[in-house]
Amino acid sequence: MSRVAVFGAGYVGLVTAACFADLGHEVVIADILPERIAALRAGEVPIYEPGLGGLLEQNRERLSYTLEVAEAVDGAEFLYVAVGTPPTYSGDADLSAVWTVVDSLAGATDPAVVVMKSTVPVGTGVKVRHRLDARGLQHIGYASNPEFTAEGTAVRDFQQPDRIVIGAFADADADAVAALHVGIDAPIVRADVASAEMIKLAANAALMTRISFINEIANVCEATGADVVRVAEGVGLDRRIGPSFLRAGIGYGGSCFPKDSLALKQLAANSGYHFQLLNAVIEVNELQKRRVIGKLQQRLGSLRGRRIALLGLAFKPNTDDIREAPSLVLAGRLVAEGADVRAWDPVARIDDVHGVRQVETIDEALAEIDAAVLVTEWPALHEVDWRLAASKAKAEEPVFVDGRNMLDPKLMRESGWAYEAIGRAAQ
Ligand code: UDX
Repeated sequence: MSRVAVFGAGYVGLVTAACFADLGHEVVIADILPERIAALRAGEVPIYEPGLGGLLEQNRERLSYTLEVAEAVDGAEFLYVAVGTPPTYSGDADLSAVWTVVDSLAGATDPAVVVMKSTVPVGTGVKVRHRLDARGLQHIGYASNPEFTAEGTAVRDFQQPDRIVIGAFADADADAVAALHVGIDAPIVRADVASAEMIKLAANAALMTRISFINEIANVCEATGADVVRVAEGVGLDRRIGPSFLRAGIGYGGSCFPKDSLALKQLAANSGYHFQLLNAVIEVNELQKRRVIGKLQQRLGSLRGRRIALLGLAFKPNTDDIREAPSLVLAGRLVAEGADVRAWDPVARIDDVHGVRQVETIDEALAEIDAAVLVTEWPALHEVDWRLAASKAKAEEPVFVDGRNMLDPKLMRESGWAYEAIGRAAQ
């Protein structure tokens, strides 16, 4: 069993740490936020991620938490970097947290491998290698081991991945990282560091491309009377295409896709290449979030003074994460149009969107409304009595825009809603 240090107690770091501890390794988690470390030491999980709390608790004996880098590095064979790499003003990835970790290794005397879990531009590994060498840290190896975990299913994604990608400068380092994963049944893709970095960026870009593709197909379906849900089913059964990530809706959000697409776009541009397709994917996604406003205006005319419920705020269900969530753009646009916005989500909060009133229950959100927009497909929305809800609306036939094609159009119309979805014929 190995001793692993994980830098960064966010979604990626905590899941990585909990899963390695579950494989039997000794794991120490370092973060710079005292309140986060204090909470973890007290047995609290600072983020909402199904299964994570249980895993941290079960493996308590093999997990420790610290604010001191030196304490984490001491005796660790693997130094996992799982810090944030948010976009800078220019759209490039901000690697300052990565450099802080690398620079903090200055006094490390024991051999160890720095393993990059954070999503970084291609070329970062080479730069880190140079900096380590410049500091006389040739005994510290370097490997790229990108994560492919989605929020809400991150623990399962880590424990049962489609593949494990390892890129390293030295075979021995790649072997060591592979050995760390013994117990996980998945193919291992060994690559050079640059290719491992690119695999992560390309995989995300491919998934986003599928989403923007199906969203554009949906928009054409709307204009031509086809139904994108049936279309996606028929297309996805082609084995060469596959069914995943073909759910049309109001666009992707989250902590990865928007940031990583921008970073890849800038990486290409900085290397002198205009990544035309990726630019289109990003633009389609921006426009898709705003189409809902057009649908509401078509039905209601001006939105000034209209009471509109936003159902779901998180960028997807089973997370409290609202980073780059379509709900933020929608809420902002609705407020700008003068609407009276009531927002509901079981866990996520958007308190800082000026002019939005967040309520605690779906009932409260739906009271006396002119329209509702389903933004996030939370399972609780399947439990709503939609006929009763329609009878409590202000409008006689309230408008319902199902931004995730979650509900049954026929049932919704029979329940008294002027129901519209994304890419499905209006009637
Ligand atoms: C994603 C990748 O899946 C993961 O591999 C990577 O490591 C991080 O980014 P995540 O952001 O957690 O994970 O969520 P994901 O489930 O991929 O969904 C991203 C967004 O795409 C959500 O807003 C979701 O609603 C949207 N989406 C997804 C669609 O609109 N249609 C789909 O068919 C699938």
